[in-house]
Amino acid sequence: MRWTVNSKTNSKIFEETMQEAIRDMDIDLQGDVWTTFKEALNNCREHGNKFDDSKNIYLCIMVDEKRKTIEVILKDQGSGYDYYKMLHQKVDPMADRGRGHIIMAALTNELLIDCSHGGTQVYFMKKLKKGGK
Ligand SMILES: Nc1ncnc2c1ncn2[C@@H]1O[C@H](COP(=O)(O)OP(=O)(O)OP(=O)(O)O)[C@@H](O)[C@H]1O
Ligand SMILES: [Mg+2]
Repeated sequence: MRWTVNSKTNSKIFEETMQEAIRDMDIDLQGDVWTTFKEALNNCREHGNKFDDSKNIYLCIMVDEKRKTIEVILKDQGSGYDYYKMLHQKVDPMADRGRGHIIMAALTNELLIDCSHGGTQVYFMKKLKKGGK
């Protein structure tokens, strides 16, 4: 199954589409996918498109029943950022913000950020099988 959405930054269609895609999944899996998705979406809305509703976010969700995976792509129309530089910066463990990437990486099997084509593209993959992480 595959869902694609291209809509205004602050539209609720993104959340509604993800809810439909993960509706029948195991509750722990739903939690991990939802948390990662919301973090990536909030980053696209806030840091990428700066809540500007004249800009769009693209969302693609692919559920592969044979490979037992869910893959998600989110793309904003911001100016991107230096992901590798950010990864090597020290994060204050008690800071209020700045934990998004740590959380996304911990909850997924694969996380890729690509800012080389304008905007930011976030890809993540999660195994549907139990024991997958
Ligand atoms: N889509 C994006 N476009 C531009 N910059 C981004 C994007 N996503 C993340 N960033 C940059 O990476 C930084 C770290 O993101 P991260 O999600 O880890 O933390 P945060 O969003 O600042 O805080 P938190 O997620 O804990 O509320 C952001 O502060 C921002 O500078
Ligand atoms: Mg964040």
